[in-house]
Amino acid sequence: MSIPFIDLKSQQARIRDKIDAGLATVLDHGAYIMGPEITALEERLAEWSGAKHNISCSSGTDALLLALHGLGLKPGQGVIVPSFTFAASAEVMPIMGAVPVFAEVNPVTFNIEPTQLDDARKAASDAGVEIVGIIGVGLFGQPANYEALMRFAVANNLWLIDDAAQSFGASLNHRKVGTLAHVTCTSFFPAKPLGCYGDGGAVFTDDDDIAEIIRSCRIHGMGRDKYQNVRIGMTGRLDTMQAVVLDAKLDIFAEELALRQQVADRYQDKIGNSVETPQLAAGASSSWAQYTIKLPADVDRDAVCSKMQAAGVPTAIYYPVPMHCQPPYRHFPIAGGGLQTTGRLSKCVMALPMHPYLKADTQDVIVAALKDALGTEG
Ligand SMILES: Cc1ncc(COP(=O)(O)O)c(C=O)c1O
Repeated sequence: MSIPFIDLKSQQARIRDKIDAGLATVLDHGAYIMGPEITALEERLAEWSGAKHNISCSSGTDALLLALHGLGLKPGQGVIVPSFTFAASAEVMPIMGAVPVFAEVNPVTFNIEPTQLDDARKAASDAGVEIVGIIGVGLFGQPANYEALMRFAVANNLWLIDDAAQSFGASLNHRKVGTLAHVTCTSFFPAKPLGCYGDGGAVFTDDDDIAEIIRSCRIHGMGRDKYQNVRIGMTGRLDTMQAVVLDAKLDIFAEELALRQQVADRYQDKIGNSVETPQLAAGASSSWAQYTIKLPADVDRDAVCSKMQAAGVPTAIYYPVPMHCQPPYRHFPIAGGGLQTTGRLSKCVMALPMHPYLKADTQDVIVAALKDALGTEG
């Protein structure tokens, strides 16, 4: 028996009819780019999150680039970002000629540690880099501590982006992701909690001026019409067909988030005594993009993964090499102390299968394989 790491097939079976009908409508009207389904989706996403503006776009990475355009990032300026993240969170700065300044994360939440932001600022200042903003990442589905991050941002006149590629659907103290930072970016990559059937993303903001710049940059810096170019932009649109898929998925998203929470609760019950399981900060909910455990330091992670694979249980390592250790990023400033927590996490994390359709008996097989691989009691 081979267990899927995520299960998009069970989900598709639930929404296939609506997708088929929606795609047929697009084929009939032929507005493949910026069709009416795009505006309808953006209105729905804005309403879902509570943000004033939603601007759909071509990927989570492009959402971050558009956000940085909207915030006016200039070459040479610095942006604080955690090193323990997916490449895109840091990559967008050098793409724009700017400088990622790597910060430490919290060992429990995996998210950027607000108390150590000053260390990152000092590292930037030592390197002669002016910090203008912070990108927090809601890693594995849990929002970062945006209340503390916002206090630091406001006190230091910085902007704050929430890279919510993994955490769309989550909330913090009853405020939904989409409203926790000046600008929020998400990804609709198929494996994300809310994913389409290709690449896609979206930006959320309450700021009218930023929203206008982002809308313009998404279509080559267009002005009042698309052949008037008032700034440098890009091709950053979401395809109309992907809006159809997302519209169908939004119908069941709230229910899927609740199912993911049940799966996380069951893991906690079954393995919480054997390994360090992921924990939520007070007031936070997670969209459980990943269920990431921490193995004891003396355990051979590769051996555990191989044994589980042999038992038909897939695992994944997010992320084995922190961004500040990746060759193209090694010359950028890092916060003092050498990002020890980041280094430790990259060596001990392991993600287990997680999706809304994971049944209790399949989870039992996963847990048994994990305990067997760890040599702990069944
Ligand atoms: C934290 C984070 N940021 C950004 C991205 C980029 O999203 P996309 O693949 O849609 O460009 C991802 C995708 O995995 C991600 O996990």
